[in-house]
Amino acid sequence: MLDSLLSRFWNRWMAPLGHWLRGRPRLQIELFCLASILLIGALDYWAGLAISLSPLYAAPIAFAAWFVGPESAFVLALFSIVYWVLGEALAGAIYYNWLAPLINCSMRAIFYAFYVVVLARLSRLQLSLEEVAEKRALLLSRETAERERLEREMLGIAEREQRRIGQDLHDGLCQHLTGTALTSQVITERLRRQGHPEAERAQRLVDLVEEAIVLARGMAKGLYPVEMRADGLMQSLEEFAGNTSELFGIACRFVCHSPVLVQDSPTAIHLYRIAQEGVSNAIKHGRATEVTILLEEAENELRLAISDNGGGMATGARGSGLGLRIMADRAKMVGGSFQVGPARPRGTELVCLVPQAAAHG
Ligand SMILES: Nc1ncnc2c1ncn2[C@@H]1O[C@H](COP(=O)(O)OP(=O)(O)OP(=O)(O)O)[C@@H](O)[C@H]1O
Ligand SMILES: [Mg+2]
Repeated sequence: MLDSLLSRFWNRWMAPLGHWLRGRPRLQIELFCLASILLIGALDYWAGLAISLSPLYAAPIAFAAWFVGPESAFVLALFSIVYWVLGEALAGAIYYNWLAPLINCSMRAIFYAFYVVVLARLSRLQLSLEEVAEKRALLLSRETAERERLEREMLGIAEREQRRIGQDLHDGLCQHLTGTALTSQVITERLRRQGHPEAERAQRLVDLVEEAIVLARGMAKGLYPVEMRADGLMQSLEEFAGNTSELFGIACRFVCHSPVLVQDSPTAIHLYRIAQEGVSNAIKHGRATEVTILLEEAENELRLAISDNGGGMATGARGSGLGLRIMADRAKMVGGSFQVGPARPRGTELVCLVPQAAAHG
């Protein structure tokens, strides 16, 4: 009870006052404390001898000790003692012995000396703690920034490597298989013309090689999804939406009202991957039956939005998955922004905004 009252008083009055005093010039704080002592002295005098307001002097002395230093606080404390004793005398206090006020003043001086030293030490301790906390926070934010940079770099490297493997697969293995299929086709024709019984088996071989070409092309496409043309992203997204609809039996639409050209191919790949992950999440987590991939050009910006009619994201459901983080990283890598939230009337919508400059390389 007392604790909560004190903390309410502290938060309501003392903390804002402390906040106001912190960082002010030394002279201003000293003048503020001196004015407070004069005011308290005047009130004390006005209250008369029967009521003592002298404990109130402790507040400005504490402020001086905390925000200026022990020397100023002690000078103010001595001033407050002299001021108090003069006030008492003026108010009509009768001392039968001059020793009595002297002892009273000395006791006060000793108390204030102790009080000021303790407060000044506490203040220094708090300052050094704040300094340590600030340094740690700076270090932590630097480490986080470095980690994020490394993550982005790794993502970029992985993307480049995937692209390289995709290209090798397409230009190396696929060409090789095409050559094999053609040669096998020639042999098959020859065997057929000769009426050889193995002609059918040879044809089966050709079919198998052609299937392998389709498989390898599919893999190359997965690793290197966007063609290096400005309209490559539109085409790839269109194709991706079609394949998704077919594969998962849902309505996945690609909407692009007017042509959106992306000259910068890393940007196009990042956007494509964001769409891939967004659609995969919509099917996997949202159990959506309709997904729309929208690509459009707004003022100075390119907007990619993936919305679904699924169950929506549970509040705080970020889990341990990487998808959302990687999408945000990808958006950051192309200088854009990424947001995910509820769609209307239901489902989830994620939006990635990329500046035109990034899209045009
Ligand atoms: N379209 C969506 N509908 C419903 N929930 C979603 C949707 N997208 C994301 N979520 C929620 O957000 C969480 C985090 O998604 P995120 O893509 O980061 O991870 P993940 O898909 O679980 O794993 P990963 O992508 O690493 O394979 C998901 O577990 C899911 O609960
Ligand atoms: Mg995911």
